[in-house]
Amino acid sequence: MNIIKVKNYKELSMQAAGIVAAQISRKKNTVLGLPTGQTPLGMYQELIKRFRKGEIDFSQVITFNLDEYYGLSPEHPQSYNYYMWQTFFNNINIKKENVFIPDGVTKDVQKECRYYESLIEKKGGIDLQFLGIGDNGHIGFNEPAIALNSKTHLVNLSQATIEANSRFFNDIEDVPRKALTMGMGTIMKAKQIILLASGMKKAPAIAKTINGKVNTEVPASLLQLHRDVTIIVDKDAARDV
Ligand code: F6R
Repeated sequence: MNIIKVKNYKELSMQAAGIVAAQISRKKNTVLGLPTGQTPLGMYQELIKRFRKGEIDFSQVITFNLDEYYGLSPEHPQSYNYYMWQTFFNNINIKKENVFIPDGVTKDVQKECRYYESLIEKKGGIDLQFLGIGDNGHIGFNEPAIALNSKTHLVNLSQATIEANSRFFNDIEDVPRKALTMGMGTIMKAKQIILLASGMKKAPAIAKTINGKVNTEVPASLLQLHRDVTIIVDKDAARDV
């Protein structure tokens, strides 16, 4: 694992955006894997700035999101689909047909999961996968457990995640209890992985990810088995490393 320690969130976002820009200038039709949540917001803002300055062209870029709440339609303001368009895609020149996010209101979960996996394959696999990390060490919505599903699947969110994510909802009761998520196997197939972590709350999970034993109770620790992982952490998140 390659660890990059930065001063603060701003520097983390700049570094992450720099990696995306360099990747797209090397390969115009890059396949990106993207997270939602608080952590990547600064990176998305910086990428929008660079796009407006004419420094990045997203016209051939393809994206796959990590996850989506089960039961939320793309128009729902708390859906990850809505988040991605509002915070990022509407502000760059990406083509709608090149954006892929699991369908949270699918009538056939099994079929949707299989379809998502096959689409990733069809597009040549993910070149560069960005990740956030849950306070509990989850990656995507792969929650700590004695065993994990490898491929895209429907998952029950843990109580810790429901509580952590309630900050984005008016009421904790409104937080969906299930989500569709890429599996750890899907994620581990990406050619390169960048995990971003900022803030003191992430410090224990980051320490276990980097220095702990590989185990499914800390899904992020599985990343130790990948050949090309970079963790960009700010001072607070790196406190226990
Ligand atoms: C979201 C996702 C999650 C988040 C994680 C951290 O698409 O995959 O694993 O990355 O819960 O969320 P924040 O960045 O809000 O702390």
